[in-house]
Amino acid sequence: MIKKILSTGLLIVATTTFISNTSVMGADTNLKADMQLLNTQLRDIQQGFISSDKDGVEASIKTFAKHVQELLGNEKRIAEMLPKDKKTKSSEAVMSAKIIAHNVQIIQDAIDNKFNQSERIRREESQRAYTYIEHACFRCHNIVRDVK
Ligand code: HEC
Repeated sequence: MIKKILSTGLLIVATTTFISNTSVMGADTNLKADMQLLNTQLRDIQQGFISSDKDGVEASIKTFAKHVQELLGNEKRIAEMLPKDKKTKSSEAVMSAKIIAHNVQIIQDAIDNKFNQSERIRREESQRAYTYIEHACFRCHNIVRDVK
């Protein structure tokens, strides 16, 4: 009896794992979780800028950069995340991803003082880059969510 219950339990666990890893629904769930994480990470950066917390920005941009590279660094993967009727927009979506990566780089270069600029210039440029990142999120979402 115990054996039977145990093996039924195992079968359920195995089936659930199989479904969540392989079905279309599983793919969407992953995308949703990835996007929610991206959003949390972007909020951490925003918090850093608003509080003028340089160390906070430095730590959060590092985490964000890594996740952006994983999630949005591959053109094929971006095409796959678009709804079926939006596949023709994939180069525009890729453009949004590139804008994000580009502006992440601007913030990281400012932190490293790559171009030997004043603190004030670096601060302003990275604050502006932050807003461009957010704008690029909207850009891709508009492509994805536009009903027309
Ligand atoms: C290349 C396109 C693309 C870019 C760039 C992009 N997203 Fe998304 N995002 C999607 C898609 C596709 C979905 C899922 C469909 C939907 O929610 O409309 C999504 C959904 C989301 C969701 C909703 C998740 C849920 O709970 O359903 C959040 C939050 C989100 N994205 C945050 C962000 C943030 C923050 C950025 C910018 C740092 C960003 N996204 C950039 C394509 C993109």
